[in-house]
Amino acid sequence: MSFLFIATLAACGGEETKPVEPPKVEEVKPVEPPPAPTPPPSAPAPTGPYTPDEFAAKAIEAAKAAGADTKPNPKAGDAAAIAAGKAQYEKCTTCHGASGAGDGIAGAALPQKPAQFTWNERWDATSVGTKQWIIMNGVSGTSMAPLGLSEDQAWEVLAYIDGELRKK
Ligand code: HEC
Repeated sequence: MSFLFIATLAACGGEETKPVEPPKVEEVKPVEPPPAPTPPPSAPAPTGPYTPDEFAAKAIEAAKAAGADTKPNPKAGDAAAIAAGKAQYEKCTTCHGASGAGDGIAGAALPQKPAQFTWNERWDATSVGTKQWIIMNGVSGTSMAPLGLSEDQAWEVLAYIDGELRKK
């Protein structure tokens, strides 16, 4: 047993040390910036009459049941509210698009297309109170989820959409 131990030790001891080769320096190529994502083709705004799908119809009904559909926008036309609403609208552009045409980067991939605020028939089909209820409560069954806006912020974003975005 002890012989084996000594033999093992001896085997470990006398190794020749090889000269350490310098590490190879690989040529560093400049990283090319990835190509800019091509924006989705903007969907042409429909012009025909608007028929709410089953999800929108339920939301419209629920807004009415809550008595929200007849509420006027207390912030309409208020310059400060429009400016505040413009900042809030940043949260909406991924789906509804910067111009409101429903052509946001995420919107293109959604099964339920985001509402096009530039489609007059659709915009006019629901009252501002109904739209405020939808912003607060979402449209169940679609990606239009409540975005955590306060009641006032929801009115402000509508003051912006009505007072500035749709006038462009
Ligand atoms: C993740 C995507 C998404 C985001 C973000 C989003 N929406 Fe929507 N929105 C939708 C979709 C989808 C619908 C359509 C639901 C339907 O009609 O079935 C909708 C519908 C609406 C409607 C109803 C319009 C109408 O004429 O019936 C309003 C108003 C609205 N959104 C406002 C907003 C506002 C304001 C924001 C930002 C604070 C916002 N949305 C953010 C997806 C989104």
